[in-house]
Amino acid sequence: MSPPSADPPDTGIGSTGIRNTGASLDLSGIGVNFGGLVALEDVSLAVPAGSVVGVIGPNGAGKTTLFNVVCGFVEPSNGSITFDGRPLRPKPHQLARRGIVRTLQGVGLFRGLSVLENVMAGATHTSDAGFLSALFGLPRSDRDERRLRAEAVARLDELGVADHAGAYPETLPYAVRKRVALARALVARPRLLLLDEPAGGLSAEDIEELAALIVGLPARSEGACSVMLVEHHMDLVMQVCTGIVVLDFGRVIASGTPQEIRDNPAVAEAYLGAEVTS
Ligand SMILES: Nc1ncnc2c1ncn2[C@@H]1O[C@H](COP(=O)(O)OP(=O)(O)O)[C@@H](O)[C@H]1O
Ligand SMILES: [Mg+2]
Repeated sequence: MSPPSADPPDTGIGSTGIRNTGASLDLSGIGVNFGGLVALEDVSLAVPAGSVVGVIGPNGAGKTTLFNVVCGFVEPSNGSITFDGRPLRPKPHQLARRGIVRTLQGVGLFRGLSVLENVMAGATHTSDAGFLSALFGLPRSDRDERRLRAEAVARLDELGVADHAGAYPETLPYAVRKRVALARALVARPRLLLLDEPAGGLSAEDIEELAALIVGLPARSEGACSVMLVEHHMDLVMQVCTGIVVLDFGRVIASGTPQEIRDNPAVAEAYLGAEVTS
């Protein structure tokens, strides 16, 4: 993988005290076995601060397994992970607190909660008197809830779906729901955002808009985040990624810039004639 651009080294903490760059993630020698099946073998990859790294590969290559390793759903049998240079043993319930937030394949919004409530639910770890305690009628700080609400509205606005704040997700078009899910992820203030197949089910036009959103994430003024993107959709990956890692049968068969990946015959072969075009 090529190094990040010539940005100055950054501690991630700006003059305001707010972290202003994404975080880095490094996987080294990751191995995962399911019974006798080797799902991942010696997988190493880096998501430098401020980058958008795509993980691609044919069906069954191990992409989702790798995603699950970073989320803590799957424990690797080998290898190590560092986050911002410090060892990480991911636990799903602690991830957001560490600054790692994921969106899941599909949408995964709560039915029966409005769009605004769904997005507020994404930020529970940022407030002590949590939104969930509010939902269950427990004592809460009004100030906390007002802040949370304002932040959720701001994130919906950022993603162009604030008009739908009062609607229930199940009544909305799929592309809008995907944006709401992204707003929910952003309200948790990630420094690393993990996206699992964000383009799935979207139209070409929606994918264009999604691409523009993803490209802007490492430079968001509201809180920059690096991105690891697991995606089937080659066009999107080629368009938004600063680096790409290709998995095949659980191994890294190529990594590099989009151009390098596009020109790599082993990649084209792994896809067995699947489109590897711009
Ligand atoms: N929980 C599991 N138990 C057993 N095998 C699994 C499990 N999850 C994935 N696999 C297997 O691991 C391999 C990689 O799968 P996966 O990570 O889902 O690939 P991809 O997301 O690239 O399509 C496949 O052979 C799959 O059948
Ligand atoms: Mg998968």
